[in-house]
Amino acid sequence: MPTTPEPQLGRMLYSSEAIAARVAEIAAELNRRFAGRHAVVVAVLKGATVFLSDLLRRLTFPLSVDFVRIASYGTGTRPGEIRFIKDVELPLEGRDVIVVDDIVDTGGTLERLKQALAGHRPGSITTVALLRRAPKRRLPPTLDLVGFELESDEFVAGYGIDCAERFRELAAIHAVARS
Ligand code: IMP
Ligand code: MG
Repeated sequence: MPTTPEPQLGRMLYSSEAIAARVAEIAAELNRRFAGRHAVVVAVLKGATVFLSDLLRRLTFPLSVDFVRIASYGTGTRPGEIRFIKDVELPLEGRDVIVVDDIVDTGGTLERLKQALAGHRPGSITTVALLRRAPKRRLPPTLDLVGFELESDEFVAGYGIDCAERFRELAAIHAVARS
């Protein structure tokens, strides 16, 4: 009986040490920008959870944490709607919101998430992602802070990021072959 092929883990792209060092730099920048303010950190489930947990423990300004989970529907040629599977629970009106995501490809999902969050009338929205794929298909700039510019077209997984719900538990980020 044929079985679904398992995704194959490829070479390591970012070690856990390299990730930790970059997360510390991103945290330092956020600490500068948000010193003395009370921000709401909104993380995108599920891929951003490992990045979030490392980032959070390095932040020194007062903050609250919330989560969204979204699904996006595109037609291939037109950007899709985003639908909240789980919306924020905290009030965002007048607040400084920091959106934390795992990987941005075209930026379409994050841009639409930003528009949806803007409906809550926050005081500001700052977007942070650990990875951004090289700007071949990039839509207008959305990201304020990025960990690593991913030069490769390969699919990646690890450090919270999945390939078909696998590999989130890995401490490093690897390329994966989708067969
Ligand atoms: P967008 O093109 O920026 O809207 O990317 C949509 C979503 O695709 C991201 O939020 C990721 O969850 C997912 N994604 C893009 N590239 C990868 C990858 O290499 N590994 C795992 N997920 C990815
Ligand atoms: Mg995502």
